[in-house]
Amino acid sequence: MAQNGNKLSGKLELNWVNKNKTLIVKDYDKGQYEWVEPNDYRVSEVRLFKEREKFGENSADNLIIHGDSLNALTSLTKIPEYRKKYVNKVKLIYIDPSFNTGQMFANYDDQLEHSVWLTMMRDRVLKAYELLSDDGSLWVHLDDTELYHFKLVLDEIFGKENFVANIVWQRRAGGNTKDVKGIFSIHDYILVYSRNENWTGNFLNFEVDLKGFKHKNEKGYYKLRSLKQGGNASLRSDRPTMHYPLIAPNGEEVYPINSSGKEGRWVWNRKTYEQRKEEIEWIKDKKGAYMPYRRQYAEKSGSFPSTSWWKYEEVGSNAEAKEEIKKLFPEIEPFQTPKPEGLLQRVIQIATNEGDIVLDYFAGSGTTAAVAQKLKRKWVIVEKNEDTISNFVVSRLKKVINGEDKGGISEGVNWNGGGGFTYYQVEKSMFEVHSGIICIAEHSLNGKLAKLVATQLEYNYQPDNEHFCGKKGDVLLAVVDGMLTEGLVNFLLNSMDENKFLEIAALSVDPDLENKNYKNVKIGKIPVNILRHYARI
Ligand SMILES: C[S@@+](CC[C@H](N)C(=O)[O-])C[C@H]1O[C@@H](n2cnc3c(N)ncnc32)[C@H](O)[C@@H]1O
Repeated sequence: MAQNGNKLSGKLELNWVNKNKTLIVKDYDKGQYEWVEPNDYRVSEVRLFKEREKFGENSADNLIIHGDSLNALTSLTKIPEYRKKYVNKVKLIYIDPSFNTGQMFANYDDQLEHSVWLTMMRDRVLKAYELLSDDGSLWVHLDDTELYHFKLVLDEIFGKENFVANIVWQRRAGGNTKDVKGIFSIHDYILVYSRNENWTGNFLNFEVDLKGFKHKNEKGYYKLRSLKQGGNASLRSDRPTMHYPLIAPNGEEVYPINSSGKEGRWVWNRKTYEQRKEEIEWIKDKKGAYMPYRRQYAEKSGSFPSTSWWKYEEVGSNAEAKEEIKKLFPEIEPFQTPKPEGLLQRVIQIATNEGDIVLDYFAGSGTTAAVAQKLKRKWVIVEKNEDTISNFVVSRLKKVINGEDKGGISEGVNWNGGGGFTYYQVEKSMFEVHSGIICIAEHSLNGKLAKLVATQLEYNYQPDNEHFCGKKGDVLLAVVDGMLTEGLVNFLLNSMDENKFLEIAALSVDPDLENKNYKNVKIGKIPVNILRHYARI
């Protein structure tokens, strides 16, 4: 988080009910949350990822994670193998959360109290912040419902000086006459924050379509457009001063006469004509009469910085996004709120380069991953809804990788497939509560205890080490899924180098050991030792 130091004075801050608490998921499928104190064990618990499928080549490059995003982000920041790969390494985080519009969509529920929505979002951004690289940026897609509140929260997390822009995306062409208030909103917003003040986005490449520009001179390609005004207001009576004679190369006077024989008018007045007559070419019509044409030059290709105003004609609309999904999955009811691939293409092109890592922890139908893959970026996406994951995300990414997805940006970027992904499931909690007592759940015991304990106590898990399943600097970890006895302690001590330290975590400990003092051994009972560790972090 940005260290504000002196900047705190005069700081504007948003307050809300339970701001100092945190939330955990109560009902996964219904998207319900429960308030807890920040030191609740469920907040600190690091869930393991269960591998469900590996697909394609280099499948470790890209991850689809099914589960709550806070759990997934916590695991990415805490489990050593992911920590190494992702902490401070993600170049772009794009999120398109539920906007909290009060609607119920087929794929998810979009109605939370403001305080719940804000806490849910804040906690996830705080975790995600750890993953962001020093030259990274966060892009948050919102509408009017929460934009103004969340801008203040992001200012608090990132520092106001790291606000880059509020992009306005025109999501549809026109309004809806049925709108009761008479003004129909046709745009969303994307708030952009950088991790550091000196961030700059990539410029956008601009390729000119030269179709129709058939002529060329030293200034470039051009097309010829009649100097006669066409369409509306094209008569002399509409603009009398723009009806005047011009002298053709054969010395004859030429007046603007429109196709029905009526007196017309020129596009330019006489003064403009005099100033720009170098741009005029005289062409003979079928009857051999000269007519004036002006040259219209094609713009030059190049690159330019993006503006904050993104028209649907340039990056796609909501309707186009739905069409893209319908084309991919014609047989099922489409995902209701996808974003167009063109929109994500622009975000990804501005914020990243090939090979960079893109994260989206409100994945929906998987647009961010599909576009990132087509643009040769690496990606991690998280989605909590089981149906959305299985109906859309996994199959969409398979189609992208197999080169079967010809829609969206595929043609424009010449996408023919390639790459792969690993599909993970966030595992259930390792704990259960019985009569108010926190216990290890039955499902955590069968062969998984060592990995779970090593992970919670922040050791590097060593699955292949016979006696010590974890290592953290000079300290080794042994996990005993039964009773720890004096004999076992001695055996472990004899199995390790003298200059190392040992932590032993056991499900039960022989009472005789309570009075024993070992100089380089720490003994803890599971799960009390884990809960104590959480309290310290
Ligand atoms: C607006 S949709 C995202 C659409 C996406 N950008 C696309 O193009 O398809 C928001 C998604 O966030 C998911 N979501 C909401 N809360 C979540 C949470 N706590 N963890 C993970 N996913 C969540 C919803 O299930 C929904 O699919």
